[in-house]
Amino acid sequence: MAAQTVLILDFGGQYKELIARRVRECGVYSIVKPGDISLDKIREIDPIGIILTGGPNSVYKKESPHCDKAIFDMGIPVLGICYGMQLLSWSLGGEVTPCPSSEYGRTKMQVSTDSPLFAGLDPAQIGLMSHTDQVTKLPAGFRSIAHTVSCENAAIENAAKKLYGFQFHPEVESTPNGTAMIRSFLYSVCGAKGDYDLKNLEQQLISDVKKQVGDAHVLLALSGGVDSSVCAALLSKALPGQLHCIFVDHGLMRKDEGNEVEAAFKNRDLDFIRVNAQERFLKALAGVTDPEQKRKIIGTEFVRVFEDESKRLPNVKFLAQGTIYPDVIESGGNKAATIKSHHNVAGLPKDMKFEGVVEPLRGLFKDEVRALGRQLGLPRRFVERQPFPGPGLAVRVMGEITPEKLEILRNADAIFREEIAKRRIKADQYFAVLTDTRSVGVVGDFRTYNYVIALRAVKTSDFMTCEYAPISHKVLGTVSSRIVNEVKGAGRVVYDITGKPPATIEWC
Ligand code: XMP
Repeated sequence: MAAQTVLILDFGGQYKELIARRVRECGVYSIVKPGDISLDKIREIDPIGIILTGGPNSVYKKESPHCDKAIFDMGIPVLGICYGMQLLSWSLGGEVTPCPSSEYGRTKMQVSTDSPLFAGLDPAQIGLMSHTDQVTKLPAGFRSIAHTVSCENAAIENAAKKLYGFQFHPEVESTPNGTAMIRSFLYSVCGAKGDYDLKNLEQQLISDVKKQVGDAHVLLALSGGVDSSVCAALLSKALPGQLHCIFVDHGLMRKDEGNEVEAAFKNRDLDFIRVNAQERFLKALAGVTDPEQKRKIIGTEFVRVFEDESKRLPNVKFLAQGTIYPDVIESGGNKAATIKSHHNVAGLPKDMKFEGVVEPLRGLFKDEVRALGRQLGLPRRFVERQPFPGPGLAVRVMGEITPEKLEILRNADAIFREEIAKRRIKADQYFAVLTDTRSVGVVGDFRTYNYVIALRAVKTSDFMTCEYAPISHKVLGTVSSRIVNEVKGAGRVVYDITGKPPATIEWC
């Protein structure tokens, strides 16, 4: 796709995708590979620079992931981030030890602006720290180029060898000038030309798909989410008359959502098949309260429905999926701790007889997919959709899922979303949650005992960290009053003001 590539080596950190995205935002193509990649493979990729990610381990422990030390002698510029910096230092003879007290959160740093990585910046910077180990002795040839009150080596450099390390995380928004620092690494140290852009992407993807598929027919699992919708729009343009889309309505969609998805795709040049499988899913979920088990049941059931439907389409030779790059990275031997098992399209059965899989978006990040969707003329409300979890409202109904609870949630959620959208309040994701708690109230002269609804609205661009959106009390009051008056079964409304971390965006 582009001449120059930056290679990101994964050591199990939560932020590897973000690093890759930041690099692309700077106009340089990036790919993520496991940290123990061979030197031959690196030579084949021929990167202009290498970035080592963070990770949860301690570099001095035997079982921790390491890379081939020869990487640091290849003449390719390297930037180690957090664990990556500790690995770089330790591999080259430096010392890494546990911190007397861990350093977490946005931290004031003093940086040396004579380093190319901090050129043009103010010496006083903020960096997001999250570490329990630190580099206490630098390897030969290195100098410290940043420090905090408790961390002497918050950033290091060996300018002659073009080796750099950041103890903080430049890739997250909490490091305000982090992208500028990454840009400096790319342009001032690696010699990037900025030759990655999306302009020619559509034509290239279309011609690749045509070449792969020829005149065969293709089946796509369409969820109505951004990825599968953009995939459908791209494939309907590339393969007019050859595309069949199966949309499984599992009954866990938001209010009117199933109909909206159908309306958006019904008249395109594709065969749109809606499967109403609500009863089947609810039956499988009856009595289940554990969030992970809910996710697994939904995944399995989805596969079964898909399998049943695909038997009716004998001429199809290819299976298409809206897989995007983060999905690829996550399933490629990820060493990060599993917080939740997210899945867009659950692993499809291996014995389905397809000649191949078509995944035109598998090299793209979400923002790139959105840009492509806009270019393809998809309705704005589809392209700019908030993420909606694959398991749908199942992860927003605490405890057992019943049709009654789903109905209460759908109605409350619709009111909240309507009020926020009407006022154009800035929140990147907002929704209602049906807690499993009921509380006493009074309506007229009668006692009520109804569900507590929680409202969640967050500000984030990466969905890996977030802050709660500071919605005014007046708006919250209006929403609360509408919910308790209009939604039968809802008795009380609370607003969730927790950030991520330590909470997650969804409640389960
Ligand atoms: P959490 O709750 O992990 O959510 O902070 C981060 C983002 O991911 C979405 N999410 C999911 N998406 N399948 C999905 O496709 C899932 O199981 C799932 N769980 C959470 C969530 O809505 C948020 O945008």
